[in-house]
Amino acid sequence: RLKWTDPIDDDKIKHSFRVICSNEANTIESLLTKEREANVLSLQPGTEYAFSVYTVVESDVKTLESTPVKITQRTSALFLFLFIIFYNPAEKTSFTSLPWLFLRKLMMVNSSARSIKCASKGNSEKCEERSINMIEESTDFNDNQEGINPLDLITALFHCADPFLQQEMALKMSMCQFAVPLLLPNCDTKECTLMLWALRDITKQFRSHGLEENSIVLTDMPLISFVRLGKNSASKSEFLNKLLGNKQQNYDTFVHRKLENGNIQKKICNGLVEMSWYLPRGEKKIDIFKEPVAMANLRGDISEFEVQFAFLSQTSSAVFLFCDDLDSNQTFLNSLQFGSKLVLICTTNDQTSRDNLKQRLAQMKLKTYSVILKDRKMNDAEFVAKLKKTVVEIVASSIKVSIEKMSMIATDLGIQVDENNTICQNAKERADRIIRGIENIPDYKTKELPLQGKPWKEISKLEKEMCRLKKARKQNIEHYMSELKCQIQNLRMEQGNHRMNEAINQFISGCYSNEQLYFLKWMKITLDSLTRKHLSRLQEQYRDACQNPKEDKERLRDLDNQIASSSLGIQHFMRELSQLYESAHFQGNWNHSPLKELPEICMCLRIRVVTVLGVQSSGKSTLLNTMFGVQFAVSSGRCTKGAFMLLIGVSEEFRSELRCDYILIIDTEGLKSLELAKLADSYEHDNELATLVVGLSDITIVNISMENATEMKDTLQIVVHAFLRMKEVGKKPCCHFVHQNTAEVAVHEKKARERKMFLQQLDEMTQAAAKMEKRGNKKKFTDILEYNIDGSNWYIPGLWLGTPPMAPVNTGYSEEVNNFKDGILDILKKTKVPALDFMLVEMTMLNILPPPIGHKAFVTTGGFQVEN
Ligand SMILES: *[C@@H]1O[C@H](CO)[C@@H](O)[C@H](O)[C@H]1NC(C)=O
Ligand SMILES: *[C@@H]1O[C@H](CO)[C@@H](O)[C@H](O)[C@H]1NC(C)=O
Ligand SMILES: *[C@@H]1O[C@H](CO)[C@@H](O)[C@H](O)[C@H]1NC(C)=O
Ligand SMILES: *[C@@H]1O[C@H](CO)[C@@H](O)[C@H](O)[C@H]1NC(C)=O
Ligand SMILES: *[C@@H]1O[C@H](CO)[C@@H](O)[C@H](O)[C@H]1NC(C)=O
Repeated sequence: RLKWTDPIDDDKIKHSFRVICSNEANTIESLLTKEREANVLSLQPGTEYAFSVYTVVESDVKTLESTPVKITQRTSALFLFLFIIFYNPAEKTSFTSLPWLFLRKLMMVNSSARSIKCASKGNSEKCEERSINMIEESTDFNDNQEGINPLDLITALFHCADPFLQQEMALKMSMCQFAVPLLLPNCDTKECTLMLWALRDITKQFRSHGLEENSIVLTDMPLISFVRLGKNSASKSEFLNKLLGNKQQNYDTFVHRKLENGNIQKKICNGLVEMSWYLPRGEKKIDIFKEPVAMANLRGDISEFEVQFAFLSQTSSAVFLFCDDLDSNQTFLNSLQFGSKLVLICTTNDQTSRDNLKQRLAQMKLKTYSVILKDRKMNDAEFVAKLKKTVVEIVASSIKVSIEKMSMIATDLGIQVDENNTICQNAKERADRIIRGIENIPDYKTKELPLQGKPWKEISKLEKEMCRLKKARKQNIEHYMSELKCQIQNLRMEQGNHRMNEAINQFISGCYSNEQLYFLKWMKITLDSLTRKHLSRLQEQYRDACQNPKEDKERLRDLDNQIASSSLGIQHFMRELSQLYESAHFQGNWNHSPLKELPEICMCLRIRVVTVLGVQSSGKSTLLNTMFGVQFAVSSGRCTKGAFMLLIGVSEEFRSELRCDYILIIDTEGLKSLELAKLADSYEHDNELATLVVGLSDITIVNISMENATEMKDTLQIVVHAFLRMKEVGKKPCCHFVHQNTAEVAVHEKKARERKMFLQQLDEMTQAAAKMEKRGNKKKFTDILEYNIDGSNWYIPGLWLGTPPMAPVNTGYSEEVNNFKDGILDILKKTKVPALDFMLVEMTMLNILPPPIGHKAFVTTGGFQVEN
């Protein structure tokens, strides 16, 4: 939607506006309007558009047009996700649908995403399935026009994706342990780009000297590069994979093939530099390298990609150069400049060729760190062991460099850096200006984000009390209520009296700026990194304090509190805005004009709500992210506080089937969180949370583990209470249980007995809960909600195949999560309950009756207070 102001003061002059929207090549839309705004439809994702608005004055004689006001704007690629998530895989896979299929699998973190099958063209009846996967080492690609190298596909997709989708792709690729692009070549212009921004979202955890968690682009580590010159009989990608793997875990990080023949006509990926990382686990026996090491792999011959080679030779600790034909390549080799150690790798056939080679080497000017000869007879394991040994030696005495620092070298060599554009840099500066001032996080929050602190907490308490009337005693209820109202008013006034401080001002202008998306992402990235640093320092201090024999209780408690209040994310800024809005709304005082426009969401959207409940740090966010391709925060060591929601638009074709416009997904903070457990009212808190989200949801997903009966019972009790209460308002919720980390085959069949026992337990709990709430004691679990003993239990294998950090996502995980998602969507399609709109959702909340006085659980109608 475009909006503009009226240029003409005298409204006696009749005028209208012409709006023209065009992309690089064509005019997309041209329209004439009398309004001061217009909606432009038919925009494509990830495309740059120019919009011009002319004032048109018509008189009897002629029509005059002003010079236009112009802006250009790039649409985001975000709505690609929708397409990907709801893409129907049952459709026959044609060549053109391959990219979509790949993206969809990638978003589901399917670790086999690179082996896509494609039905041959013109053969649709027989639908001959044909693998396009190079891993199978097939060589008949040259004559197979439909074949496509997965690396070509990935390179092309990175070219088509906008910067935000690029980040998402790189993140998911790294979860699958796929190598990610570091230098992206452009096969038309022969230029390449350093993918710094694209990799910014990847954070990794590893243990070398201590446990570390850091953004991968900021982590200093040695880089080892693998390149080749001339044709090569040995597949370096294959060796790289073996170098990264060990006996327990072997994985195809780099797409490899035996025959890297140059016959394939044009390869988009030629000149691509991929990167992957070896990250130690902190176990001497298993770790191949004790420190994290980055590995880069250049696709193609270095003689054709000198810029890439120069970059690698300047950034790497060592370059491993595969070259079989020293004779033919001698001149070229002699001319090379190396900024790093060179390890030459040659294949030899017999003793004579060995001797020959040694002679050659002696004659050459080239200075090598070491030469590894790969004998025909030598098996791969022996060779890889040699490689490993050399890498270990080199790493021991190497300089470490982060990808962010590499960007300087890239610039010197004329390589573009993807972050080098005005929008991205302006956004970064904006975010930096806000974050620069933060020294101590708890102090910062008290000072700069004051409204969500004490006043909000007080208001929430009062609002709850208005529902529960717990402390009313024998007072006149009306009188008591008006007293509470008055107190709330005072607090809102107090909130309103705070001047809007600089940080919030800047945050708002960032949200309204042209570079909004970049700004929010920079805020997220920078705050995450800041919080990580603070937390790890505090945790270290805490460990030290614990080890001190004269344990200082006071100090431990202090550190404990600091840890609990040291997380800072975008959500804190958003909460502050919401409080500003509430207080301004309350006072009818819109001095801060931008605030008024904040809630732009249309209240009449029809929505379906899906929620996940479960114990703390149990991979709930990961589950939702995998199901819906969304981005709930998954940082470890910090729990999600509060409930977070995301709206997913439902694509047009799908709307009638689902009978809603949006799916609202709610991720909740963990039940039974250790931090909250210390508070006296933690049970109450969990109850509130569960009731709130169950009340909102069409489907509640509860994650439990069968292994730990105590833990399960506690969680279930909370949930059962919440469900019971829904019954009172005539809502029959729908509940699905997810059992995670089940490794067996045919688990659903085998667990029939367990499910039966599980239901018995649920029935017992329901009875107990009903008794407690005085709601009849003949209740069964199925009386209070939609539950189907076979259909409502889902078994999902563990997320990782092996042990992180080097483990890829288990394909079984993504498979079962996909089934689960299909199941959930099916239920939404079949449900007879009409979708709610936002207003109705709020009404539901108001209608959930406060439970009898003296009971533990209740729902607030007002804000749901979140501490810290
Ligand atoms: C390297 O050797 C191969 C033959 O093995 C030859 O085709 C190629 O042109 C040589 N490259 C350079 C840069 O000398
Ligand atoms: C950014 O890009 C411009 C032009 O594309 C170039 O002149 C400039 O040197 C680049 N700066 C950096 C820091 O890469
Ligand atoms: C479910 O809970 C179990 C145990 O508490 C945990 O290991 C698992 O990761 C959780 N899964 C999900 C999807 O929340
Ligand atoms: C089960 O969970 C409880 C609470 O989270 C914990 O204290 C207990 O150690 C767990 N038991 C087992 C066997 O994992
Ligand atoms: C994951 O990818 C593999 C290979 O492309 C495919 O066979 C499998 O069905 C995919 N899994 C899901 C859940 O789509």
